[in-house]
Amino acid sequence: MSVRAFRAPVLHCLRDPGDAPDSEHVEHFTDGLLVVNGGKVAALGPAPALLAKLPRGTEVVEFPDRLIVPGFIDTHIHYVQTDVIAAHGKQLLEWLETYTFPAERRFADAAHAAEVAEFFVAELLRNGTTSALVLGSVHAVSVDAIFLAAERTGMRLIAGKVMMDRNCPAYLRDTPESGYAESRSLIERWHKRERLLYAVTPRFAPTSSDAQLQRAGDLAREHDDVYVHTHLAENREEVEWVRKLFPDARSYLDVYDRYGLVRERSMYAHSIYLDEADRRRFVETGAAVSFCPTCNLFIGSGLFNLGEAWRQGMRVGLGTDVGGGTTFNMLQVLNEAYKVAQLCDFNLSPLRALYLGTLAGAEALCLADRIGNLAPGKEADFVVLDAAATPLLARRTAAARKVSEALFAMIMLGDDRCVAATYLQGELAYRRP
Ligand code: GUN
Ligand code: ZN
Repeated sequence: MSVRAFRAPVLHCLRDPGDAPDSEHVEHFTDGLLVVNGGKVAALGPAPALLAKLPRGTEVVEFPDRLIVPGFIDTHIHYVQTDVIAAHGKQLLEWLETYTFPAERRFADAAHAAEVAEFFVAELLRNGTTSALVLGSVHAVSVDAIFLAAERTGMRLIAGKVMMDRNCPAYLRDTPESGYAESRSLIERWHKRERLLYAVTPRFAPTSSDAQLQRAGDLAREHDDVYVHTHLAENREEVEWVRKLFPDARSYLDVYDRYGLVRERSMYAHSIYLDEADRRRFVETGAAVSFCPTCNLFIGSGLFNLGEAWRQGMRVGLGTDVGGGTTFNMLQVLNEAYKVAQLCDFNLSPLRALYLGTLAGAEALCLADRIGNLAPGKEADFVVLDAAATPLLARRTAAARKVSEALFAMIMLGDDRCVAATYLQGELAYRRP
């Protein structure tokens, strides 16, 4: 990996831009130069000033009519549900039984897992997603397959084997001991190998016995730099079920808390039905929520109150939650995040939407020292967006006076067609045909 530079308009967030329409926490270079050395950002600034300082002969790739933004960070996605995306007509618990469990059964087969993993990783890159927190199936081979596929591309990926030992079909059950042992051996094999990291992944409280949650907590304690990844308070019927299964717990979050699963590097997908004490607990511990609006709307689960979460200081990232979510594309997920926020009386600004899809995810994953923006020293993962990807977008953005207006148009009108190219550590990983 040698020195290379990319000349283009560049937009990224240095911090949460907050509610302000134009924030000093955002950097925008209309004619920017992103210099990459050894896979990391070496410099970012106005092209005229930086070009003069480049070593003679440095390759400069130019995208004058595009917009470079940091790669998107998907904080919750099931690769083993790729083939049940867009399955019609059920709410959560019935959807799991009808579509999800039979699909996940097939991941006992390493060849099937490898084929889907390959497609899945390519689809992430085609959509400008450069980092993701991913669930496998209950089968360890499924996790080997996704790590292998990710490693070949060089993308940053966190994944884990689902643990579940009850309230699911017998063909998908592990046990407290086998779930523990298989997860531990996956940690030894994959955690911190290249850009890969491991997540201890109990599916959700209803499908794990007390003994299994205990063993998941043991793993989290024994390896404090691994992730914890699960679902929380997504659907009213599910919340009621958890109340019956764990009558002593104060809340659904408290079930996980009792086993030491609520801490930094814990990611709780959905988290729609929280109370004040739960929100405080998120803030105290540094645990994070993955907001999954496309899934929450599609399955009919409810509206996550992003404004309230942010007002309280919770860490929130954005998740596609494929296959309950209906797209791999984070622009589309931001589109629905905006609309869900509107329904909760919270207006998501365009720049804060960019933050939600990039740096906020990095912060939620405690990886903001490495990814999430294009500050010098960060891993050079970025997307080249095309704000004229469709006739309507071209027409709408031709009249845009500010970059935030063009960005918002891409969020509302755009999708994978806007992704002209995706780079991982400064290397081309996808180019739109
Ligand atoms: N809760 C438990 N498992 C799942 C799943 O696979 N998808 C979603 N959306 N919610 C869940
Ligand atoms: Zn999920």
